[in-house]
Amino acid sequence: MAKYCALLRPHANSRYQAETVKLARAELTALLEKGGCRAEARRETRSGCDWLAFEAAPLNPAQVALIGFAAHLYVLFEETEDGALRPLFGQSEAYLGGDLPLVLKYKGKTNETFTSFLLNLAFCASNYEAEDGLTVLDPMCGRGTTAFIALNRGWNALGFDQDAAAVDEGVKYFRKYLEYHRLKHTLTEKSMTANGRQAAVLRAFQFAQTPEQFKRGDTRALTMAAIPAANLKQVYKKPCCQLIVSDLPYGVQHAPGGGRKAPSLEDMLYEALPVWVDLLHTGGAMALSFNVNTLRPEMVRGMMAEAGLDIMDGAAYEGLEHWVEQAITRDVAVAVRRF
Ligand SMILES: C[S@@+](CC[C@H](N)C(=O)[O-])C[C@H]1O[C@@H](n2cnc3c(N)ncnc32)[C@H](O)[C@@H]1O
Repeated sequence: MAKYCALLRPHANSRYQAETVKLARAELTALLEKGGCRAEARRETRSGCDWLAFEAAPLNPAQVALIGFAAHLYVLFEETEDGALRPLFGQSEAYLGGDLPLVLKYKGKTNETFTSFLLNLAFCASNYEAEDGLTVLDPMCGRGTTAFIALNRGWNALGFDQDAAAVDEGVKYFRKYLEYHRLKHTLTEKSMTANGRQAAVLRAFQFAQTPEQFKRGDTRALTMAAIPAANLKQVYKKPCCQLIVSDLPYGVQHAPGGGRKAPSLEDMLYEALPVWVDLLHTGGAMALSFNVNTLRPEMVRGMMAEAGLDIMDGAAYEGLEHWVEQAITRDVAVAVRRF
């Protein structure tokens, strides 16, 4: 058996930092399982920092690369017999640029580390591998945090939101980012109609890391549009993604009138979930985060199951409820489309 330990990424808020240890442990467990590695991670405090440690059969490069996705882990070390720490990875390389999801700051943005964690849980629960050319859909994408993180994995992304101004900001920002970094790209607009009326304008980017890649068609895609979640069936008639990842409205700052519970969060989710399930390829997975003060966890999981998904359980997918701020305690539900 080999000994490993991973240093946790620090968070500025110490109360949230304490909460992230359990998320980090779940994330590492999910990634280890995905790589076919049996191990149980435990928390350790060394030199005043939080670590996760585990023993396992020596990890192969593919397993190390998978753990490299971990949002909460900063560096993974192998601990040698004499107690020395040999670094195995730092940051995994971003397809476009590590700063892509970080630059935009706005009220209501989902924390990038948490978003990356959600994406990892969906990915680990799915039957797909990182090399499968995945497409990630966030049906409530705001300005596109999930999409930008997915693109940096070298995957494709679809981002939709009912807030047209948020989507516009996301599109404008991404276009500027590509221009600033001189990344070859195209941006096309496509008007979609439903029942003879315009349902949405899809804005689709095609881009690559180098002009040579672009020329030979080795490109990635991002499509964004302002569409209410339940209306996506007007745009996509068949499965279009392998992963659905979304941080649902907390019913706090997005509520009309501010500070009050959004009137029909449950109804909206009840209507939207079957639509989202139809957009997932078989073997695909969905990870949703939500405020337990406005949506009851057992109700969310019940609705996901009713929509035809298989709810994930076990150490990586349970006990993820955590404090975020006053009035927001967040939970995560992960489920798979088996058929
Ligand atoms: C917690 S925020 C997500 C923020 C996003 N992850 C980001 O970092 O920008 C929830 C989002 O849900 C959107 N939303 C609320 N109701 C919606 C609906 N019925 N259809 C589509 N989007 C909706 C809001 O506009 C908001 O952007």
